Amino acid sequence: MKALKQNILWMAVILAAITTKSLAQEHTNERALWFTDARFGMFIHWGVYSGAEGIWKGEKLRNDNDYAEWIYYRNRIARDEYVTLLDRFDWDRIDPEQWVILAKNAGMKYVTITAKHHDGFALWDSQVSDYDVAEFTNPKRDIIKELSDACTKHGLKLGLYYSHWVDWEHPDAWDHSKEIYGISAEDYDRYWQGKVIPQIRELLSNYGDIGMIWFDMWIHHSRTCVTKEQLLQLKGVIRELQPNCLVNSRLGLSIEEDSDIDYKTLGDNQLGSKKEEFPWQSPATVAHSWGFHAQEKQWKSTTTLLQSLIGNVSLNGNMMLNIGPRANGDVPYEIEQRLLSMGEWLSVNGESIYGAQAFDLVRYQHDWGKITCKQNPDGTTRLYLHVYNWPLSQKLPVTGIMAKPVKAYLLAKPETALPFSSNGVVTVLDLPANNPDPLVSVVVLEYDSYPSTVDGLVAQSVYGGYSLTPKNAAELKGNTLIRTLTRKGTVPSHIGVNEKSSYQWRIYINKAMTLQTDISYAYQGEEGHGKISISSSPGSLSANFQGTGRTVGEPKSKWQIDSYNSHRLGELVFSEPGYYDITLEIKPGKDEDLNFQWLWLGAE
Ligand code: GLC
Repeated sequence: MKALKQNILWMAVILAAITTKSLAQEHTNERALWFTDARFGMFIHWGVYSGAEGIWKGEKLRNDNDYAEWIYYRNRIARDEYVTLLDRFDWDRIDPEQWVILAKNAGMKYVTITAKHHDGFALWDSQVSDYDVAEFTNPKRDIIKELSDACTKHGLKLGLYYSHWVDWEHPDAWDHSKEIYGISAEDYDRYWQGKVIPQIRELLSNYGDIGMIWFDMWIHHSRTCVTKEQLLQLKGVIRELQPNCLVNSRLGLSIEEDSDIDYKTLGDNQLGSKKEEFPWQSPATVAHSWGFHAQEKQWKSTTTLLQSLIGNVSLNGNMMLNIGPRANGDVPYEIEQRLLSMGEWLSVNGESIYGAQAFDLVRYQHDWGKITCKQNPDGTTRLYLHVYNWPLSQKLPVTGIMAKPVKAYLLAKPETALPFSSNGVVTVLDLPANNPDPLVSVVVLEYDSYPSTVDGLVAQSVYGGYSLTPKNAAELKGNTLIRTLTRKGTVPSHIGVNEKSSYQWRIYINKAMTLQTDISYAYQGEEGHGKISISSSPGSLSANFQGTGRTVGEPKSKWQIDSYNSHRLGELVFSEPGYYDITLEIKPGKDEDLNFQWLWLGAE
């Protein structure tokens, strides 16, 4: 009876807190709508550096990051010698249309090429500078024209990477050594007015519709030699010539500083970590380097790449995945294969990516994967559950969506309905034993209106329990600082507790069950000096601190670490479905501390 009353109370509190949020990304400029629909694009790093393949005169690139397109600067190559790399190019074989066809087959909706990278070399026939591809080819080539024609032919948008801040070729432009030798504002503006502005004018006048200009200044303009006025002038030229062309935040102006910036570019290979209301994109590589590197080793799997794309879309982001073709135009086999597999996956599951958005549930909610969402104009909504680890139990719990789905099915087999049970807070799907896709399988839930969610609930794990951690606690009191993992993860994330502290979580129990309660912590003091207690409506549990001792990370390396051990506190009997608060109190003895890691409420 007591539990029932508490549940009714909770329902009232939760219903009041429910907000039916609008699906649309609130801060999207009109011109960026195609971009947020597209979600997946191709980045192409290709230029003179592709001929070096990360090695110059027998020596590997002089930098641990192994960015092959930086060889000119890193290995201090002379301007005239650098272009001799073009002798290695096989111009008869080079066919940019093949890159566009690959992008299309990979399910990508746009292509962005390095029209001018940091080396200052233009991949088009530039009237502004003869440091361009037309000057070094016979018959003259114009890669941007060829790519633009291919994009029009195959229905993809074309984006152009343009290195504005850095240009190693132009005597008045910025290269990092100017930090030692100095640079005058007048000289720099000569480069700006003499090369950047007119080249951008050329690119926006002669190559049809340009979907975006992708600038590459990865620090704020206040820390560079470029002035805000120069950046605004540059953006003004783009708005004047092609008002629909997108501009990314690596122009040097953040989206927060200037809402006219169309989307935020994250760091290289940085994936999204939180839901944003504005458009954003991760530039990503299949291995590590952007330009082709002969000694590349860190190939990511297709599953990893797909999960990166899905993860971004689940937070309202895009991913632009790079190919670094060779000097003969060939795309490395490892890249091509992964892209084609992604394309196959998207040909079946693309509905969960293109035009899809983040759903309201918080990021740590489910341990089986990520959710994306689509709302139709009539309000009907589809949620796409991307199941990364297909549950051995064949039961998929979905927590915190305050509505019963009208239908559930696999995106790969829409004609077969999946059985499920739902009480409007937790939906449990019955899955077939085999997942339909070895990469990532997608389950669709259909709702007749946009479903509300409950914030702050800890979702049920696919392993049949609840993982209660400092990160997903609804309330923390006393010691609250979460120390992130250290020593290669052998010291896990925890809270150091040296004063009376309490932590509270909210869970939803969807059927009567008994859960074993275990706590993991490290403690170096003596037993009897501190106390742990759990209070919840099903009952209370308590235990004294117990010493956990220490262990060694690697032998003979002075790598001693505290042991974090799991201790059973006892069982909690949940006799009816409903919301429950679980409160943990930790009371250390004087001058003692305990490092709290997690609580696990597990069904047995
Ligand atoms: C960095 C590098 C550059 C690469 C880019 C891709 O800014 O300087 O070589 O083009 O990232 O995101």
